[in-house]
Amino acid sequence: MKEILEKLGIKEVNHGAYCGEWLHTTGEEVDVYSPIDDSILAKVKTATAADYDIVAKKALEAFKIWRNFPAPKRGEIIRLIGLELRKYKDELGRLVTMEMGKIYTEGLGEVQEMIDMADLAVGMSRQLYGATIQSERPEHRMFEQYHPLGVIGIISSFNFPVAVWAWNAFVAGVCGDTMIWKPSTSTPLTAIAVTNIVHKVLEEQDVPKAIFNLVIGRGSEIGEKLINDKNIHLVSATGSCQMGKRVHQAAAKHYGRVILELGGNNAIIVMEDANIELALKAVLFGAVGTAGQRCTSTRRVLIHEDVFDDFAQKLEKAYGSVPIGNPFDEGVLMGPLVNQSAVRAYKNALEKIEEQGGEIIYGGEVLTEDVPGNCYVLPTIAIARNDMQIVQEETFAPILYLIKIKNIDQAIELHNDVPQGLSSAIFTNNLQYAEQFLSDRGSDCGIANVNIGTSGAEIGGAFGGEKETGGGREAGSDAWKAYMRRQTNTINWGKTIPLAQGVEFNID
Ligand code: UN1
Repeated sequence: MKEILEKLGIKEVNHGAYCGEWLHTTGEEVDVYSPIDDSILAKVKTATAADYDIVAKKALEAFKIWRNFPAPKRGEIIRLIGLELRKYKDELGRLVTMEMGKIYTEGLGEVQEMIDMADLAVGMSRQLYGATIQSERPEHRMFEQYHPLGVIGIISSFNFPVAVWAWNAFVAGVCGDTMIWKPSTSTPLTAIAVTNIVHKVLEEQDVPKAIFNLVIGRGSEIGEKLINDKNIHLVSATGSCQMGKRVHQAAAKHYGRVILELGGNNAIIVMEDANIELALKAVLFGAVGTAGQRCTSTRRVLIHEDVFDDFAQKLEKAYGSVPIGNPFDEGVLMGPLVNQSAVRAYKNALEKIEEQGGEIIYGGEVLTEDVPGNCYVLPTIAIARNDMQIVQEETFAPILYLIKIKNIDQAIELHNDVPQGLSSAIFTNNLQYAEQFLSDRGSDCGIANVNIGTSGAEIGGAFGGEKETGGGREAGSDAWKAYMRRQTNTINWGKTIPLAQGVEFNID
């Protein structure tokens, strides 16, 4: 472990602010724990409000230079970062696992997601195009262009401690923006490691050094500074609905732009004709993968009454054979929850399930034996009703609710009857069911799938959801547009000034 930390530039005590160089931060010193065995990995001296101000000033100065670089040149810098990430894939993947607890293959997958995102952004850097629009006036040309926006705030969550930064940072980078990253205080070391990798690349290039900046500190102090900063032109925040609401309110005070990617309450509908084996695999990965700590994790399964008992039984059996333990051990599919407060949220939800009339048919237990730490739990299945309060909420833990449905109309109605709207799926071979689910009266989520699960989206699509999920879109497709300032231009190359809408305004 020591070797890996060293290779990634993690010291015993690390500074929590970077703006082209590491600042000598003087804030509170926090211990960073591994949920695997509760050991201390390193310490971080967090950023103070004064440190934030220095970083913000540097980021704004850097923006004024960076925006002048042609976008494909900016893409070249992202390409070099992608190459450097490839060199550190194993170490960084291991650090993700150590710091957050997801299994090693998922830790590696997360770094791969960053690399893929770099490649995508390099391509995007030559494709930041606007349309040419037909003008109603003679000898006029109308078109739109996209300019760099400014300084972007990136607030990321513990569960994807580096990939979510990459979705934002690489896109913002090619768009000509500079940025300030505020990672979760549960996972600051991966953020420091990534910043060291970026630093190495920028050091050798003739570009402003404060493009990819970092501040580590509490949400109540550093987060508040960031979201209330008028010079932050866009805040892209991933995390709870509660946090997102706070970001939205603060940004609204100075008309700041936001991209919110908040809670999910993702469901899979299993119809009577579904391929049950496929559906079981998808539910298992969706609900148990990452120990149920993805915003896209499957939280509800809406199962047709004809196959309900059979499905529930098979799922219970599958849950019984999920190896739980040290996420580095081969064969283990579920590691620990991120910390004790996540374990408390899990226990609290179990109590509520029983109070509100649900029935736990598998799991419902914190593990104390044969595991190396205190954050291991059993994945849990409960038979429930969609209108139970606890089912309406997102508990960030591997708890899955099974709900019986009678037909496709009822399935879609219950599916949409939650406050959140991130990811969704239906398992069926019936074309009409599938198309109805994807239609305007179907799933109300930002992501809707047929015969694949709710989690594990590819970066090529725009990622995000509706309702309390916040409405933001990140990563692929045309999500880049939110990171740029859009401008409509009209040029008159004629010798008269005709007005639009036929208005006459002439002096005789
Ligand atoms: C998250 O949990 O915040 O679709 C993001 C997925 C991943 C991203 C999850 N690509 O599950």
